[in-house]
Amino acid sequence: MKGLRLLATGGALPGRVVTNEDLRRQVDTSDEWITTRTGIRQRYYCTENEDAATLAITAARQAMARSGLTANDIACCIVATLSAPTATPSIACRVQAALGLPEDRPAFDVNAACSGFIYAAATAHGLLTTLDGQYALVIGCEALSRMMDPTDRTTCVLFGDGAGAAVFELAENVPFAITLGARGSEAIRAGGPAACDTAPITMDGKAVFRFAVETMPRCLQTVLDRSQKTLADLAWVVCHQANSRIIDHCIKHLHAEPSKFYKNMDRHGNTSAASIPIALHEMEESGLLRPGQTLACIGFGGGLTWGGMLLTYEGRK
Ligand code: UT7
Repeated sequence: MKGLRLLATGGALPGRVVTNEDLRRQVDTSDEWITTRTGIRQRYYCTENEDAATLAITAARQAMARSGLTANDIACCIVATLSAPTATPSIACRVQAALGLPEDRPAFDVNAACSGFIYAAATAHGLLTTLDGQYALVIGCEALSRMMDPTDRTTCVLFGDGAGAAVFELAENVPFAITLGARGSEAIRAGGPAACDTAPITMDGKAVFRFAVETMPRCLQTVLDRSQKTLADLAWVVCHQANSRIIDHCIKHLHAEPSKFYKNMDRHGNTSAASIPIALHEMEESGLLRPGQTLACIGFGGGLTWGGMLLTYEGRK
């Protein structure tokens, strides 16, 4: 089977920084509670002129520029999000127009909440094969600040906004594995029966925590087994950045090397489908990703859904 490899990333963060101290003035909470329970210190919120689509377009432009490819090389554009400004046009179609991607290629959004980026990459992998294409543009973006109840301290301290983009190449003989799963549950809920219903995010935090610590090590082990790799073969494990303690549980369970697990929730909070590509982009920017490295990306979240992907970082063409 052919696999995906990561060529280049892009990122976009909105203009407003919201610290734990800012939230302490908004709800009955404290910096101490938020940092010790979650590892989050600040998050970014969209300003009036920003939304998940504007962030996606900025991140996508950067990923394309870094990839060294042209718009014509991209066989499909897939966006993972649960906070698109409109149900239609999709964010992917907005990206198609903004970047001038050729019109004879598919562009659409997928919603698998915080596992969305893995679902979107898996969809791109399948589509590249179906369409006989070589390169895919995959984006994770969110404007969760627009979906939160600012008076609910159990959720408003957790989430943030942002976008990350990736250009993938379909290649022969590369280490690659994907696992995806779903279990219908109301443990995390946002929005309502109609697209115009803006019911805010609610979450059974404890139940989701238990689900996460059970799911993450299992997903990681599955992609390692399927690609006949071990943890020692991985340069990085990039998990969904919901809570530092969830990642610590995973490290403990697997007796893994903590320094392989990238963490950035201190600066971004939980950005749902954007969290993994934002992390990949930061790692590329700061030189942590080097060509030839093998990575695992693990997501879990609303749906409930989960997904894991093992792949290599190739760097630009
Ligand atoms: O990306 C989607 C996936 N989502 C997740 O992965 C979230 C998973 N869950 C979690 O990360 C954690 O469950 C939370 C961070 C959401 C909550 O942490 P916890 O250690 O499970 O806290 P808790 O819900 O058990 O609440 C403990 C106490 C409660 O007070 P009592 O009942 O003990 O008096 C809460 O009311 O903390 C209280 N509390 C707060 N206190 C200060 C809840 N939120 C806050 C707050 N500030 N923001």
